Amino acid sequence: MPADGDLAEAASVLRTGGLVAFPTETVYGLGANALDARAAARIFEAKARPSFDPLITHLADAADLESLVGAVPPAVAALAARFWPGPLTLIVDRPAMIPPIVTSGLATMAVRVPDNEYARRLIAAAGVPVAAPSANRFGQLSPTRAEHVVRGLGAAVDVVLDGGPTRCGIESTIVDARGERPVVLRLGALPVEELEQVAGPVTIRPGSSGQPVAPGTLAAHYAPRTPLRLSTAGATDSGVRRGYLAFRDRPVGDWAAVEVLSAAGDLTEAAARLFEALHRLDATGVGEIVAESVPDTGVGRAVNDRLRRAAATWSSGH
Ligand code: TXA
Ligand code: MG
Repeated sequence: MPADGDLAEAASVLRTGGLVAFPTETVYGLGANALDARAAARIFEAKARPSFDPLITHLADAADLESLVGAVPPAVAALAARFWPGPLTLIVDRPAMIPPIVTSGLATMAVRVPDNEYARRLIAAAGVPVAAPSANRFGQLSPTRAEHVVRGLGAAVDVVLDGGPTRCGIESTIVDARGERPVVLRLGALPVEELEQVAGPVTIRPGSSGQPVAPGTLAAHYAPRTPLRLSTAGATDSGVRRGYLAFRDRPVGDWAAVEVLSAAGDLTEAAARLFEALHRLDATGVGEIVAESVPDTGVGRAVNDRLRRAAATWSSGH
């Protein structure tokens, strides 16, 4: 946990238009004052993020939602009450205070309260809502450790706060609960099954074609630098040094590097370790990563979603 002095300094950097990378329970975020259009513009620049990809606004406390946005639909309020602080992002109307660049011109805004003590203290100390995408360059692996941020973004960030490895390891679940039936725009750390206990049956929007509603759901995304493909029975040897990403069992055969996500077969642990394992396989310099899917239930669905998108990046000749 970083020291209080670091936190106060980072809060003042945020307030005055700077960029601060900070830990959340999901992944590290690249934060800027969400009320400041120029600060938000710096996020897009630092990440090389296309301007059509809107940011998530982070609040210190669920009670801050009403002061920023006013009343929200009852279903949205119910989800916030149940899951905030936590890895759930909700869609609301964009308030006039938030400059359009934050939402890429959309009339709606994505918002969440992170379940990370340090993140919430930072946002509260800054005294402003904080726009923060994942602190990686666009399309690349999300950072789950401060050193991933430093390696990926370097001097483009004014301050990197180190809060250790993030607990969930994958991004928040994004839900639009304004309509009759809630729509999941991005699978994430909050499992759909838990969401449905509060929201009733939801629709899962794959968003893999056409104009994406949540560009984090672009077919090609979350990719390591090394080409990645999903393991299928009978895959043949391609002749290059290969790394293997396993769910629970070490693979047989000749692998230059192996990462096991959870020897206990625990999906929450697997999610927490996913990006870290991919960062590590990337660093070994193997020519290819072969990844195994995990059981497609609970947070496992979000893990498989990330793996499919990483593989799509490489099969689309990226
Ligand atoms: O866990 C997380 O959500 C992390 C941490 C830092 O909070 N943040 C994160 O941000 O994953 P980012 O920018 O990597 O992904 C945000 C996603 C994007 O896919 C974006 O398109 C979507 O949220 N989004 C933002 N505003 C939206 C809106 N108004 N409607 C639909 N999707 C939106
Ligand atoms: Mg991202």
